[in-house]
Amino acid sequence: MSNMINVALPKGRLGEKVYDMFEKAGFECPSIKEKNRKLIFENAEKGVRYFWVKPSDVAIYVERGAADIGVAGKDILLEYEPDVYELVDLNIGKCRMAVAAPKEFRDNPQKTLKVATKFSNIAQTYYNSIGRDIDMIHLNGSIEIAPILGLSDVIVDIVETGSTLKENNLEVKENIVPISARLIANKTSFRFKSEKIEFIAREIAAQTEADK
Ligand code: PRP
Repeated sequence: MSNMINVALPKGRLGEKVYDMFEKAGFECPSIKEKNRKLIFENAEKGVRYFWVKPSDVAIYVERGAADIGVAGKDILLEYEPDVYELVDLNIGKCRMAVAAPKEFRDNPQKTLKVATKFSNIAQTYYNSIGRDIDMIHLNGSIEIAPILGLSDVIVDIVETGSTLKENNLEVKENIVPISARLIANKTSFRFKSEKIEFIAREIAAQTEADK
């Protein structure tokens, strides 16, 4: 195993913030700021290699060891339950998982509840915990239109500012769980590269404390 640390970053605004945290921790890689479409950036001297992946794919790279560490949303970790270590709550990318429905919707406990979501595992676990029978409708995006068109009664989705719900005449009915970005590590890497990974985790945790 090389001593290089491979870091999977979520592509997008959150990932750029995360890279800045790594830079502050002393693992800079200036070429990453060049405007191009490259996906892999390396600073051999610092022993670090970054790659941009789809946010929902970070956990797969880390679980399978293609990346030693990475940053993934708690939503993805709860939904797919990857076998990784969760090292630090970065306290950014904050939002919540919630049940939402049209304002006028009133749940009838006698009827099976139709739930549309991208997060079937989180939704199923939640409804099991309250003993509610549901009919799960798995969708891949634009979840908000499902109750408007009568495809579902409610949705389980991420709410950040709440403006997507508002603009579609929906409102939060129940909060399920708060979400934020987490630093995660591959279990084998954590054993064999523990010193460097723990150093990075400590530096990054210190920055999240400082940002509070
Ligand atoms: C999420 C979610 C909502 C929106 C909520 O989608 O599915 O559509 O954000 O944010 P708001 O409360 O600030 O309006 P995201 O933009 O992550 O992408 P997606 O549509 O691919 O799920």
